[in-house]
This record gives sequence, structure tokens and C-alpha cells, in this order.
Amino acid sequence: MTATQLLAYITVALLLQVLAGVAFAVWRHPAAAGAPLSASVDDVVTTAKGAWSGWRDFRVVRREFEDAAQTQCSFHLQAVDGVPLAPFRPGQYLTFSLKVPDGVAGAPDGARTITRCYSLSDRPDAAGYRITIQRARSPAGRPDLPPGLASSHFHDRVLEGDVLQVKAPSGHFVIDSDASVPAVFIAGGIGITPMMSMLRWCLAEQPERRVHLYHGVRSSGDQAFKRVLEDLAAAHPAFRLNVVYSRPASGDLLARDDQHLGFIDLALLRRTLAPGRHQFYVCGPPPMMQSLVPALREAGVLAEDIHFEAFGPASARPTSPASNEPTAAASASLEVRFSRSGRTMYWDGQDANLLDFAERHGLAVDSGCRTGSCGTCQTRLVSGAVTYADQPDQDIPKGHCLLCVGKPQSALVLDA
Ligand SMILES: Cc1cc2nc3c(=O)[nH]c(=O)nc-3n(C[C@H](O)[C@H](O)[C@H](O)COP(=O)(O)OP(=O)(O)OC[C@H]3O[C@@H](n4cnc5c(N)ncnc54)[C@H](O)[C@@H]3O)c2cc1C
Ligand code: FES
Repeated sequence: MTATQLLAYITVALLLQVLAGVAFAVWRHPAAAGAPLSASVDDVVTTAKGAWSGWRDFRVVRREFEDAAQTQCSFHLQAVDGVPLAPFRPGQYLTFSLKVPDGVAGAPDGARTITRCYSLSDRPDAAGYRITIQRARSPAGRPDLPPGLASSHFHDRVLEGDVLQVKAPSGHFVIDSDASVPAVFIAGGIGITPMMSMLRWCLAEQPERRVHLYHGVRSSGDQAFKRVLEDLAAAHPAFRLNVVYSRPASGDLLARDDQHLGFIDLALLRRTLAPGRHQFYVCGPPPMMQSLVPALREAGVLAEDIHFEAFGPASARPTSPASNEPTAAASASLEVRFSRSGRTMYWDGQDANLLDFAERHGLAVDSGCRTGSCGTCQTRLVSGAVTYADQPDQDIPKGHCLLCVGKPQSALVLDA
């Protein structure tokens, strides 16, 4: 055998060894083949093959309460088809189609289908998803009004083993990939869910990054993920947890410097954050969003460094400072024709969006999130142009519009 032949044999043997190693790794961890969980978030976006269109069946494999008061329950989901899940961007949500009992409308089969969005509350894992749902009670002082339809359905009727219809992860409220800029997560109540996903991703993939979490709750009784977060803070020196109690129970405030009384505000952030640039992520109830987001802007934080998501209706969103919405649309009187209903009305700028406008005039239109996220209110645009204050999460097909976040830019004919 010549030296060249020997070298060729050695090279081939080495190559075979490497190939066998790769094949073994893929066999042991099938998810790794399509889901590089240690990739940067930007890689995750480009490699998110396997995201599906339409509804896919997921089985609830585990339920688990996350707070002492048992008002926030996690549901662990696995795809019924068993195909590994594409990675999502930490901060994104799932959309659910739910058949819930309908005591009011009296549908023929006693049920109606509704659409709701729920944020993924853990970091990407090809084996399954986790969402965490807060039970929405009747509004304070209005026991005559029914409690939340979807959240009550999840808490009272969705059991381990049940199958749910789910749309692929989506949403623009996602963690950035620049580990050199500290991340500040500000959550009010159940607004903690997207933060759990972003936080766990940061701790795993960017362990050196400074990460601060401010969680505003009434008391430790409704503090979701309390133990998990305390353990993470103890284990990760770069992670700082601050809990802010508005109505602390006895024993909640232990004179520790990571526990505070009141609400999350600029003064607290100034006291506890080092000077310099931060990426702010805010998700909470309307009063928190409406005070904190403008306060951050007024304090000189760049618009591109403030990311926020509202769980409620679009009107709960603070006005985007970057909004490029033409003002004429808000003031001009424009004809809006709903062709299928045979109704013509005039847009006078009173309503926040076309969905509110339609409902105020007595037209029933299907809706889900009312934040441009789920696509339920998507309507064919026969003629005219619709404008959006902020780019909706949902991709809008050509010739269609989203009523819940859209306003007319000209006279409209809608197929509704
Ligand atoms: C992107 C996104 C992510 C989200 N992520 C999460 C999450 O991770 N976890 C979570 O818990 N939620 C999340 N939400 C909110 C969630 O989608 C639902 O809005 C929430 O669960 C309430 O829905 P529901 O069907 O239970 O309540 P609904 O039936 O929609 O009712 C909402 C509230 O209105 C009250 N109500 C009922 N009738 C009336 C009436 N006539 N007048 C006034 N009030 C009335 C109800 O009592 C209830 O309090 C998210 C929302 C979005 C848009
Ligand atoms: S109601 Fe969800 S996109 Fe309009």
C-alpha cells in the first residue's frame, strides 16, 4: 500500500466515524435535527421550519397550578402527530380554537367556537409547549356579568388527555439577541408568561447577560412561578428578581432588597437599575402599560428599546410613539359599506377600530384577541384602503384587512 492510499483509507475511516457520530446524535435527540435550541433567536427565526398553517391537534399531557391561590394554571401540550416542534421565538404565543358551552346565544348544539391567544410560558423545547392561563373572573362589583369564557373553560373543563386545536406560534413581542445590552422584564400579574419564556431562554443561551425581572402582584398568594423564580435567581448571578406587592399578605415583605411595596414605576427602576442602555419588555394590565410605557419614553429610553404587549383589547395598548398612521383617517367622514349585511355607515373617527365601529352599529363580527393577533376578524376588502397604527402580528393576505386594529384610510366596501 502506498502512502497516498493509506492516507485515503484513514480519511475515509475518519469521515465514516464522524457520520456515525452525527447519525447517533440525531437518533438520540431527534429534535436537534430540525431545532437547534442553542442557536441565537435570529437563527431560530430563520430555521423555524416545521411551523404549520391552520389548526394542529395538541394533547394536554399535564396541568399544574403556578400560584398558591390556584388562579393560574399551566397546561403542557404535545403534538398528537408526534412530529418534533419547530423552535419559536421566546415571547411568542399560541392561538386556540375552543368549543365552549354557550348559555347565552343558545346555539343548536349548546356550544360555540371562540378563539383566544395564550403566550408560551417556557423556553423552546421540541418535545412540547407550556401555556399558563389566569382565570378571568367577573369584573369587580359586577357579579351579574359572566366570568371569562375561555379561561373558565380551560380551568373547569380542559383535562389531561384532552385534545385542543392550536395555531403555530406567532407574535412580534420577542427577546432580542444582543447579550451585551441588559434585558429588563416588567410583568404585571399574568403578564409574567412571555417573560418566563424569554428569561429561561436568556439564562440558558446568554448566561452572562444581565437580566432583571420586575413582577408586580397583589400578594404572594397570586405570585405565579414564585418558587421557580427564586430558585433561578439563587442559581444565576446575572439574574436579578424584584417582586412588587400592591396588597401584601402578612409575612410577604421581609425587609429584603428584592421585595417592594406598591407598583412598578420609574422611581423603582431608577433605584434598582445601573445607569446605561437596557432593553425593556413590558406586559401587564392596561393601567400599568398606560403609565409605564410613556414614562420610559419620557425618561429618554429610545422607542426601539421598549417592547410591550397587551393581553387585553387593542384599546389597552399605549399609543405607539412610532405610529405613522395618517391622521386624516381619524377625522374624515368616510363611507363604510358592509356588503353582505347590506349596511352602509359613516366612519366619523369616534371608534378605536373597525370592529368597535361595526359592533357599535349593531353588526355582529367574529373576533378573538382584538389585538391583531389571531386573525379571527380578518375580512375581505372589496374596495378601499385600511390603515394600522402598528403592524399587526397576524400576516394579512392581500385583499383582506383586520377589523380589530384597522381604520379606514378611504371609503370602504367590506365583505361582511
Ligand atoms: C397575545 C396575547 C397573549 C395572551 N397571553 C395570555 C396568557 O399567557 N395567559 C392568560 O391568562 N391570558 C393571556 N391572554 C389573554 C387571553 O387571550 C384572554 O383574553 C383571557 O384569557 C380572557 O379570555 P376569556 O375568554 O376567559 O374572557 P372573556 O370571555 O373574553 O371576558 C373577558 C372579561 O370580560 C368580562 N365580561 C364578560 N361579559 C362582560 C360584559 N358584558 N361587560 C364587561 N365585561 C364582561 C369577563 O368577566 C372577563 O373578566 C393573552 C392575550 C393576547 C392577545
Ligand atoms: S380579533 Fe384577533 S386579529 Fe382581530
